[in-house]
Amino acid sequence: MRFSVGSVFRAMSATVQARPRGLVYEKHGEPAQVLQLKDISLSELGASGVHVRMLAAPINPSDINMIQGLYAVLPDLPAVGGNEGVGRVEKTGIGVTSLKPGDLVIPADAGLGTWQTEAVFKEEKLLKMPPDIPLVSAATLSVNPCTAFRMLSDFETLKPGDSVIQNAANSGVGQAVIQIAAAKGIKTINVVRDRPNLQELVDRLKSLGADHVITEEALRKPEAKDLFQKIPKPLLALNGVGGKSATELLRHLQHKGTMVTYGGMSKQPVTIPVSALIFKDVKLRGFWMTQWKRDNAQNKEELDRMIADLCTLIRKGQLSAPACQEVPLADYQSALTAAMTPYISAKQILLL
Ligand SMILES: NC(=O)c1ccc[n+]([C@@H]2O[C@H](COP(=O)([O-])OP(=O)(O)OC[C@H]3O[C@@H](n4cnc5c(N)ncnc54)[C@H](OP(=O)(O)O)[C@@H]3O)[C@@H](O)[C@H]2O)c1
Repeated sequence: MRFSVGSVFRAMSATVQARPRGLVYEKHGEPAQVLQLKDISLSELGASGVHVRMLAAPINPSDINMIQGLYAVLPDLPAVGGNEGVGRVEKTGIGVTSLKPGDLVIPADAGLGTWQTEAVFKEEKLLKMPPDIPLVSAATLSVNPCTAFRMLSDFETLKPGDSVIQNAANSGVGQAVIQIAAAKGIKTINVVRDRPNLQELVDRLKSLGADHVITEEALRKPEAKDLFQKIPKPLLALNGVGGKSATELLRHLQHKGTMVTYGGMSKQPVTIPVSALIFKDVKLRGFWMTQWKRDNAQNKEELDRMIADLCTLIRKGQLSAPACQEVPLADYQSALTAAMTPYISAKQILLL
């Protein structure tokens, strides 16, 4: 059964509310060691503050990297973990115009610290969400689907029938790429790591709309070329892994195509064969959602339009939340362990 954010909140409100608590770290290090579940005190509401009761928040790789101190932006310490999630507005400062009590909100920027039961955020750091979006979809909307949406829109002009190749295809980003591309009639070639239950994963990605799912090993074989007798060579490659996996994507990219690197899960550098540059004149680009949001912070029209488009896809059943496991906040240690375990294929969602 799927719950909308509104129904979950009504059920939670019926229980007695405890003191505000959060997953706090005072120094950088391994999350399991440095995070502590603690009582926290809320900031003053002030004129522009919004008191939010958090409902659910995922654990993403960038959250882990931030706690480890290995991310491009780091909060002042002590800090609360988490960059994404959904909450409900309890109270607003007198100067707040865009939100009111009862509204559902998601972060408009990174670094808010979403792994807490309640918090006071600045109005401009929040985006209002429609109330009919399922809880987990709302909690996981502001990072991965937005990244997938932008990468499919901003680098190449893709038309129905064109193709895109991506690695880490079972990641949160990858699942969103498959679904958004399918909704636009764009074919996807989805590269995953081999595993004992590969067929299960292939079936799951195909049920989301993946046209082809292939392992990194199979993509290296000469027979992989046969794929492109059925669909055009990709104009766009999306790289969330780096290392040899990225080199393989480049090998199949169309002449003058673009590879966008957005993640480095293998922690290996991207090596570019000179032939890809000389004979194919490929373009190499990078993308960071946080920077895009900051670049568009003054004029939120584009951001609002993207969120509205993604919500429309969710309502039409064309964009579902990533495969996930919902975990009570008190069990955060097991959620952290699962989030850092390879081949798990399930996003950990903290219920706050
Ligand atoms: N640039 C941006 O704006 C932006 C935005 C969102 C996400 N990201 C980045 O995108 C990446 C994916 O994020 P996510 O939230 O979608 O991830 P996720 O749902 O947690 O999934 C992690 C993915 O990484 C794969 N993986 C893990 N270790 C790997 C390795 N050593 N080699 C190859 N693949 C490996 C996993 O595959 P298995 O199932 O095989 O383990 C899985 O597909 C992360 O690096 C994240 O920081 C960047």
